[in-house]
Amino acid sequence: MDDLLNVADYARRAQELLPPGPHAYFAAGAGDEWTLRENVSAYRRWTLRPRILRDVERVSTARTLLGHELAAPIVVAPMAYQRHAHPDGEVAMARAAAAFGTVMTLSTMATCSPADVAAAAPDAPRWFQLYVFRDEGVTRAIVEQAVEAGFRAIVLTVDAPYFGRRERDIRTGWLVPEEPNVPALAAALGAMRATSVTEHFELVSPTLSWRDVERLAGETKLPVLVKGVHTSEDALLAVEHGAAGIVVSNHGGRQLDGVAATIDVLPEVVDAVAGRVEVLVDGGVRRGVDVVVALALGARAVLVGRPALWGLAVDGERGALRVLELLRAELELALGLCGCCSPDDVTRAHGARATV
Ligand code: FNR
Ligand code: LAC
Repeated sequence: MDDLLNVADYARRAQELLPPGPHAYFAAGAGDEWTLRENVSAYRRWTLRPRILRDVERVSTARTLLGHELAAPIVVAPMAYQRHAHPDGEVAMARAAAAFGTVMTLSTMATCSPADVAAAAPDAPRWFQLYVFRDEGVTRAIVEQAVEAGFRAIVLTVDAPYFGRRERDIRTGWLVPEEPNVPALAAALGAMRATSVTEHFELVSPTLSWRDVERLAGETKLPVLVKGVHTSEDALLAVEHGAAGIVVSNHGGRQLDGVAATIDVLPEVVDAVAGRVEVLVDGGVRRGVDVVVALALGARAVLVGRPALWGLAVDGERGALRVLELLRAELELALGLCGCCSPDDVTRAHGARATV
């Protein structure tokens, strides 16, 4: 694996190793995949404004996030069906996140149970990503599993009242096989009735509204983060309705094609929230310098999706850990070269719009 030097190398190797169906599912974006590409390329429209002569002998990437002490402001995003990337799936991802020193977010559509993931990394903080189902009892049963397994926050995904149309999936015709199934959902339903991703999504409720956010935030003792915020208007509503955190996200370009790159909407959200809750961003983070840009624009941390998944596909727990370590090392170097000894030293003045 020593010839894999960066996230792009892992992405290429993962494509060589994975069967075409699962690879297309993991890589896909919606529609023309314009937003998918924008998420990545928009980072190149921001530049860094390093400061010099700051004594950067000791640089640390450590950061606190919602009370957790992280090795770096890099969290693992929720991603469904990870046992189709590697047989160890979410259990390996949880171990990698724990070894790295960060939070792993487990998808509702995970192919390992919340209890198994908790047992794999008992001491590490874990968050649970929630899809709200048409059947309230199913949602409640899923939240109970997460609470019982010691997950520390609920990440409520709100950008998927419908499942995005991903033409790569239509072309390969890959349907999520019955095995491995989705244990959290299967347990909540009493049986697994659906097999394809789209069938799973037919169970997800398109009626979700701010009332549900408020109810969830009131009912559970866990902090609720709202994932899928694109605008300052909705960021304010999220704070009003009890969100403990906001994730600026377009689901990695997989839902509504045509929305702006997340890094470009981050500043308006950060300004609107004005420090009342922590703001995170995901989508398109592929380099340590991208993390510096996100910090400069006011993110408390970033989430990484596909990079961690490519690491998992290439070499299980070790591969996912290696990708996280590569990003952390790049971040450490970039911080030092920006004249910052830690993420807390990064200010708005460290980033600027590119002029070309
Ligand atoms: C996702 N994402 C996602 N989000 C979510 O809230 N619940 C989920 O189950 C999934 N599943 C999922 C599967 C796959 C294969 C991908 C690539 C993504 C979205 C994810 O949490 C995150 O928002 C994006 O992946 C971030 O973009 P990058 O880092 O992949 O560019
Ligand atoms: C996806 C769903 C499962 O993006 O969130 O594929």
